[in-house]
Amino acid sequence: MLAVDGLKAGYGATTCLHGVSLQVQAGEIIALLGANGAGKTTTLMAISGLVRPQAGSMAFNGASLIGLAPEHIVEQGISQVPEGRRILPRLTVLENLELGAYRRNDRAAIRQDQERVFALFPVLAERRRQLAGTLSGGEQQMLAMARGLMARPTLLLLDEPSLGLAPKLVLAIFEIITRINQDGTTILLVEQNAYQALRVAHRGYVLEAGRIVLADTAAALARNSKVKSAYLGG
Ligand SMILES: Nc1ncnc2c1ncn2[C@@H]1O[C@H](COP(=O)(O)OP(=O)(O)OP(=O)(O)O)[C@@H](O)[C@H]1O
Ligand SMILES: [Mg+2]
Repeated sequence: MLAVDGLKAGYGATTCLHGVSLQVQAGEIIALLGANGAGKTTTLMAISGLVRPQAGSMAFNGASLIGLAPEHIVEQGISQVPEGRRILPRLTVLENLELGAYRRNDRAAIRQDQERVFALFPVLAERRRQLAGTLSGGEQQMLAMARGLMARPTLLLLDEPSLGLAPKLVLAIFEIITRINQDGTTILLVEQNAYQALRVAHRGYVLEAGRIVLADTAAALARNSKVKSAYLGG
């Protein structure tokens, strides 16, 4: 579904991805692990068209993504839920969800998708008229994911969805990630919580200083001594 090959990218004159290659098959949850500053967010931003690649190729369902504007990449079926949530605090929950569907005009289907995200996140249904800025951190994270789903993506890019959440909510978020995947959405998941990420993922990649250093099934990565010592606390 997604094939990234030899991707180089960075900011201005600096390069922080030095030839990243990864593949995502339809139906998978892929974990992208790595320390702070490894280039995880930059990889997602390059796929979304928010960071311009300096070299390499990226193809989605066989068609190149290189040079496409971010909104056209969304139209292709790729939706990113950014790190730090970025919901609009002065808009209501419902208005934030409508923004997620801004490239679409299929009203009936949008309504259906709204019901679908409310089924996934019942707390958002209860709070649909509340200002997003008054939601708890966990609820804001749910809203960010729900907004991402409103673009009706076939590939969802999630950047640190569990960051800063209480343990109980962390479990709930990973449960929901699994459900979204079982409903047919392919997921590329960036996470600091390697333990939970490898529990839900099918395969994973480890990024170090802008290079993929390990690629394997999630089960094999969870057993890997290097992964254990660096990301799973020994
Ligand atoms: N907007 C930016 N301008 C300049 N440099 C940046 C920018 N964003 C990130 N970088 C640099 O690019 C490198 C990779 O950062 P990136 O945010 O992709 O890492 P990350 O793996 O997502 O880290 P974290 O786990 O902290 O989110 C880092 O050295 C970072 O300082
Ligand atoms: Mg990041």
